[in-house]
Amino acid sequence: MDFETLVRTRRSVRGYKPDPVPRDVIAEIIDVAKGAPSSMNTQPWHVHVLTGAPLDEVRRRNTEMMLAGAEPRRDIVTHAPYDGVHRQRQVDIAIDLFSAMGIQRHDKVMRQDWVLRGFRQFDAPVSLVLTYDRVLDPGMTAPFDLGALSYGICLAAWDRGLGTVVNGQGITRSDIVREVARIPDDEVIMTCIAMGYPNDEFPANTVKAKREPIDRFVRFVGFED
Ligand SMILES: Cc1cc2nc3c(=O)[nH]c(=O)nc-3n(C[C@H](O)[C@H](O)[C@H](O)COP(=O)(O)O)c2cc1C
Repeated sequence: MDFETLVRTRRSVRGYKPDPVPRDVIAEIIDVAKGAPSSMNTQPWHVHVLTGAPLDEVRRRNTEMMLAGAEPRRDIVTHAPYDGVHRQRQVDIAIDLFSAMGIQRHDKVMRQDWVLRGFRQFDAPVSLVLTYDRVLDPGMTAPFDLGALSYGICLAAWDRGLGTVVNGQGITRSDIVREVARIPDDEVIMTCIAMGYPNDEFPANTVKAKREPIDRFVRFVGFED
C-alpha cells in the first residue's frame, strides 16, 4: 500500500477473527515501528506482547474487577471525563459505533455488552502492552515518543492486513497487566494495542471516525498568501 492510502484507509478494528498472529509477523511490525522518532533518540519504550493464556487472564481479571465496581488503576494520569468539543467528538464516535452495531441509546444491556468487549480488548488474539522507563517520569517526552511508536505499529500492522485498536479499556487495571505479564516496576504502563486479523463481518469495523478539516486546527504564519 502506498503511504497515503495506508493512512487514509486505516481505522480502529474492534472485531477480530480468532486466528493467531504469527510471532515473526508481530516482530516485523515492531521492527518497522521502532523507526519512530524519540526525544534525543532515547527510545524509552518497551513492548510486552501477550497472547494465549496470559492475555485471557488479563481479560478475565480486568473484566471481573471493573464489574465489581473497582476504580480504574492506571499508571498514567488520564483526563476523562471530557468536556466541550472533546466530549462532543467522543459522543460522535460512540454514536457512529453504536449505530453500526444496532445498539439503541437506551439499551443498557447492549451498551454494557459493548463496554465489556472493551474490557476484553475486543477479544483480539494479541495485545501489545507499551511501557516506558519510569526514570523519565514526570516528563512528557516519553509518552510522546510512545505515541509515535504506537502509530507506527498500527500502520505497519494495517499494511500487513492486520487490524489494531489502541485502547485504555483493556488495561484499566494496570496492576493486573503488570502482575500477569511480569512487567518490572521500573517501567510505566502507558497503553495497550489490541491486534489481530479483522473480522470483516463485524459492523463496527466499517466505521471511519471523522476528522476536523485542517482549517479548524492549523494556522499558517509568515506565508505570502
Ligand atoms: C490513547 C488512546 C486510547 C484509546 N482507547 C480506546 C478504548 O479504550 N476503546 C476503544 O474502543 N477505542 C480506543 N481508542 C481508539 C480511538 O477511539 C480511535 O483511535 C479514534 O476514535 C479514531 O478512530 P480511528 O482510530 O478509527 O481513526 C483509543 C485511542 C487512543 C489513541
